[in-house]
Amino acid sequence: MPTVVVCVGSSCHIKGARDVIGRFNELLREHGLQNEVVLKGSFCMERCGEGINWQIDDEPLSSSSVEEAVRVFRTRVLGCAEQG
Ligand code: FES
Repeated sequence: MPTVVVCVGSSCHIKGARDVIGRFNELLREHGLQNEVVLKGSFCMERCGEGINWQIDDEPLSSSSVEEAVRVFRTRVLGCAEQG
């Protein structure tokens, strides 16, 4: 089961981390995957300068915008989860 962690520290929060979590949640519900993917928040990932920081399992990711994060999530998480 993939685990997606989104940083909700103050720097990422200002850049839209809360919206990212909201969109990820909506997408999981739309795809019926809310029980297949673990979605959680984390304290500062200590990469504040890099964008909105999040990770899929142990892979660190940084997105320049909410939309960019959603694009990666669609490909990487919804794609993977649907195949599995
Ligand atoms: S607040 Fe997200 S990496 Fe620091």
